[in-house]
Amino acid sequence: MKQTTDFVKMKKTGEKIAMLTAYDYPSAKLAEESGSDILLVGDSLGMVVLGYDSTIPVTIEDMIHHTKAVKRGAKDTFIVTDLPFMTYHLNREETLRSAAAVIQQGGAHAVKVEGGGHVVEMIASLTSAGIPVMSHLGLTPQSVGVLGGYKVQGKTAEAANQLLEEAVKCESAGAFALVLECVPKQIAEKITNALAIPVIGIGAGAGTDGQVLVYHDVVTYGVERVPKFVKQYTDVNHAVREGLKQYVREVKELEFPEERHSFIMKAEELSGLYG
Ligand code: KIV
Ligand code: NA
Repeated sequence: MKQTTDFVKMKKTGEKIAMLTAYDYPSAKLAEESGSDILLVGDSLGMVVLGYDSTIPVTIEDMIHHTKAVKRGAKDTFIVTDLPFMTYHLNREETLRSAAAVIQQGGAHAVKVEGGGHVVEMIASLTSAGIPVMSHLGLTPQSVGVLGGYKVQGKTAEAANQLLEEAVKCESAGAFALVLECVPKQIAEKITNALAIPVIGIGAGAGTDGQVLVYHDVVTYGVERVPKFVKQYTDVNHAVREGLKQYVREVKELEFPEERHSFIMKAEELSGLYG
């Protein structure tokens, strides 16, 4: 299993880090089999597996529940779990308790937190308590209300300079990696070059040290429209729809089950039945 220090080494040697989200036993198992370097139990699970329209309703209990399942499916991959909305903002103590819960109860190896500013102090507290922290800057979905929608961030020189400053602060506070979401590729490259820790991009171009995408987006499972930065490598929706429709039709038309799906009792036993 790769560790935080291996990800820094990968940045140095130029080997790209491939990260995928996973939310349950089967997705974790398949993502581990694919060779993904890191699994992220993202709070995007609120949308892609729980059907909320944002990540805001996701709770720490949800994250623990899903992390446990991911851990059972991927015993040999580094697992990062998102701390959900408002579980790392109020004070250091609550932040430490939230992170300890996903690590001790869920089995995660590290946590991810969104934002710079005041969150930088929390990154320092977590790190000094022995909990590896992945930072997340740029489009931070838990702040969608403040950002005014899911939009590209750091588009002006001023915004980009602020982003770079925040990235440096997160690194100084002890973050072992940074996720950079939805920023112009030139800015992502600049930040990647400025930091010693690996930068993992999503909608941030090819100049970062790695990429992350949402599992359900990559395989087109349960999602219909996906953002511009997603590449859909296969179409699970299509396969599942076709399979399920055929099942229902075959039941109605008496085509399923067939003899080979049935259990047969021996004739001599049958004759011994009452009635
Ligand atoms: O929740 C999530 O899936 C994420 C990634 C998209 C980075 O935070
Ligand atoms: Na997230």
